[in-house]
Amino acid sequence: MRTTISTPILSYMKQLESQGLTDIEEICDYLYEHYVQQVDQGLYSNGRYIERGSDVKAKVSTALGDSSQECILWCINHYLGLNRNQKVIDKVCKAVQEYGTGSGTSALSGGMSTLHKQVEHKLQQLIGKESVLLFPTGFTANLGCLSALPGKNDIIIFDRECHASIIDGIKLSGKKWVTFKHNNLHDLEQKLSKYQGDYENIFVVVESAYSMSGDLAPLQEIVLLKQKYKFLIYVDEAHTFGIYGTNGAGYCSHLNLVENIDFIVASLSKAIASIGGFVAMKSKYIPLLHWRANAYTFQTCLTPGDAAAILASLEEIENNSRLINSLHKNNQYMRQHLKNLGFDLGTSQSPIIPIFIPDVEKLQAFNKELYSRGIFSVSIFYPVVKPHEGRIRFTLSTTHTKEHIDTTVKVLHELGLKHGVIKSEMVAA
Ligand SMILES: Cc1ncc(COP(=O)(O)O)c(C=O)c1O
Repeated sequence: MRTTISTPILSYMKQLESQGLTDIEEICDYLYEHYVQQVDQGLYSNGRYIERGSDVKAKVSTALGDSSQECILWCINHYLGLNRNQKVIDKVCKAVQEYGTGSGTSALSGGMSTLHKQVEHKLQQLIGKESVLLFPTGFTANLGCLSALPGKNDIIIFDRECHASIIDGIKLSGKKWVTFKHNNLHDLEQKLSKYQGDYENIFVVVESAYSMSGDLAPLQEIVLLKQKYKFLIYVDEAHTFGIYGTNGAGYCSHLNLVENIDFIVASLSKAIASIGGFVAMKSKYIPLLHWRANAYTFQTCLTPGDAAAILASLEEIENNSRLINSLHKNNQYMRQHLKNLGFDLGTSQSPIIPIFIPDVEKLQAFNKELYSRGIFSVSIFYPVVKPHEGRIRFTLSTTHTKEHIDTTVKVLHELGLKHGVIKSEMVAA
């Protein structure tokens, strides 16, 4: 089978399937061959790892471990740099001494410690919903909640750009679902109007900020639709919890919409720099989730050290408003420079900046050269996003310095011109 070597693995798999290849053993043989070629050519960025863990500047190695280099990292979701905060680290060490390393079982079987309970209480107070349930990861929070919440005669309408954990949860529910065009209120309203009356409940599922595009959801407008149509709103705040709202309470809180949103879900692995996920909601949903969300009931709790990291990170955010403010300043600064240079940043707003490069081969060559110049970011292409909507994604952190941003923008400027991503020199960076 002939193929251009730069074809990304997932697209390649789709090509194989479309050519009628169904035997998984055979598919794996082709994929493995393709993978080895991609690694050899330095095109397989998934193979890179960070020698001493994530930071904004760190030594990155390849899968083969035969080369390593200092890079400025733009692929890490620790928006506030709390993974390297000494106070957080000290509290985690103390908790591990006191509570041990693991939780040993699920929440309902005795896996929760005082620390876990404190986390739930703290999140509940911060967000202001009646109750919070803590899940081991953000992924399984979505998987558990969305598989369990919809009833027999319900329908789920969700934004087309929603995260894989949302889609998996919805599919696992076995209930009827439809998508609406990304952030398109008109399309959402058409679907609401079409399905109103045919189902007992409609769930509308969105993300507050979309991880692939950095777009913020039009939450106020979605809430307004509730005046016309009856539905429940489920918002995933993975990329806004900790960095929007007072003390990082999230984007729903920032917009003063907490009361209007039925389910607020978030990951604790991003701004909060630990691991875990949660859902904030009315208390009446607790027993249903206890008994129907297998991802809650049959999964071991996050470790006491993770719980201590969550508590310590939330305390740091509370005590230091500069953390969030600096992140948004960095976002404005980098964004403005890239816009001035003529890069296509789509409609992004959150501290995730995508640079759109529709041609996948150009995108891969661009990202490979970027890496060789010490800038590590992730390229995203079909089928993760639509064909011709490939992009390189830059996730900002409070701990990126002006120098990190300036260096990155300078390299992007040079490579943008070289690869024809930007047409002509505009404003100097
Ligand atoms: C929107 C969204 N939801 C959920 C998750 C899953 O969170 P976690 O990585 O904490 O499991 C992610 C992670 O990338 C995400 O981007």
